[in-house]
Amino acid sequence: MSDNKHALPDVLDGLDKNTEAALARLIEILKIPSISTDPAHNGDCARAADWCAATLTDIGFEASVRPTNGQPMVVGHYRAESVGAAPHVLFYGHYDVQPADPLEEWDSPPFEPRMEEEGTNGKIIVGRGASDDKGQFMTFLEACRAWKNIHGALPVSVSVLLEGEEESGSPSLGPFLDANAEELKADLALVCDTGQWDATSPAITTMLRGLAHAEIIITGPSRDLHSGMYGGPVQNAIRVLTSILGDLQDAEGRVKIPGFYDGIIDPTPEQLAQWATLGVDEKTYLEAIGLEHKAGEQDRSLLEQLWSRPTAEINGIIGGYTGPGSKTVIPSKALSKLTFRLVPGQDPDKIINGFKKFVSERLPDDCSVEYLESGGSPAVGFDVTAPAFTCASEALEEEWGKAPVLMGCGGSIPIVESFQSELGMESLLVGFALDDDRIHAPNEKYNLNSFRKGARSWARILQKLAAL
Ligand code: BES
Ligand code: MN
Ligand code: MN
Repeated sequence: MSDNKHALPDVLDGLDKNTEAALARLIEILKIPSISTDPAHNGDCARAADWCAATLTDIGFEASVRPTNGQPMVVGHYRAESVGAAPHVLFYGHYDVQPADPLEEWDSPPFEPRMEEEGTNGKIIVGRGASDDKGQFMTFLEACRAWKNIHGALPVSVSVLLEGEEESGSPSLGPFLDANAEELKADLALVCDTGQWDATSPAITTMLRGLAHAEIIITGPSRDLHSGMYGGPVQNAIRVLTSILGDLQDAEGRVKIPGFYDGIIDPTPEQLAQWATLGVDEKTYLEAIGLEHKAGEQDRSLLEQLWSRPTAEINGIIGGYTGPGSKTVIPSKALSKLTFRLVPGQDPDKIINGFKKFVSERLPDDCSVEYLESGGSPAVGFDVTAPAFTCASEALEEEWGKAPVLMGCGGSIPIVESFQSELGMESLLVGFALDDDRIHAPNEKYNLNSFRKGARSWARILQKLAAL
């Protein structure tokens, strides 16, 4: 569309001229420690939600903070005039962040964002949430702001949903989507919570793994025991737990839970061929994390393992004595938290049930197991031939000078599958995070280049969508 109302160069210029102000806004939201998993930060989550709603209002959205049983949702609507056949989009992001610990590993306080020059990344902003997901969702809001400032209007109708519980598995989301389906349903969801291929190559994420989580407590003897007085004839809860967990994978790296791989929809030969062209170097990938040898299924490429194969991971174990010196104790109880990454075709409930059966079947006489909270969300894949993908692809190529890489994603964003299954809405996942952004880890950062070009990319995508 070439009429003045939709001229893009002015919007891009507007973004470039206002980077300082945009950065100041990002710093404001980064200062709020909106850690959703920690009830001590509920007030901060509420403040972050208020900030988001105020920001949306400032841009011209009709925005509100919506209470849930957990952290509040933020919803905003902007109705564009005379959009013709252009899609109404729903942008999704999350204002909550991961806990900042271990605090001592941060070079500066996690919620006092600071700018730094970092080698080939150039200027970076360091702080919890800089990349996941505050810096990312702000690229979209800044693009909207620029459109509004320059043309007095957005080129398409935009709704925004900012969630505050993504990092804790989005427990309030299902009920919220159910209760507000009419209001939230749009033609397409836009999500900025994934990465690009590398610092100079944009990407569109075409599939996300799902996630199922479980937590178990094994109890042996009714109390902790002296390991001399009782060692030998009695069960040790940690030994029972670790031998069951140690049995989860076979020597080839395959998960042994019966039925675990049933129904899996494998990537197409075309997808596999495209992934093979991406030229991922296993050695470089492993070296960056201090390793040399690829674990798991040896008959699969690294990208297949990450994007299209499910996993069983032990996230933590608690039990027994770990204080100073030694203590001759046989623990009564041992606890473990586990997560399973899922791929298309797997049902989280079936996986959890299979896991429970696997544990129960291996439980020795005299031991008991308690299954604590569990849940999950399925994997999701998208049809990349849809017109919106073409729009995004062209827009990204114009901004970055290269066609975007179509990638899978090992991580999970629970809401995206609900958009598909509950609202019948496809998602377009475009993000600007980099592998070295240290998300969920100390010294999380976002490149200012990602922030700037991310906003420019969204400004372009909105214009292409308007022309559909
Ligand atoms: N933004 C991430 C998902 C992600 C990770 C996308 C890596 C691209 C690359 C998201 O915030 C996240 O951390 N998701 C959790 C979900 C869980 C807490 C339910 C995950 O994947 O562990
Ligand atoms: Mn995220
Ligand atoms: Mn995250």
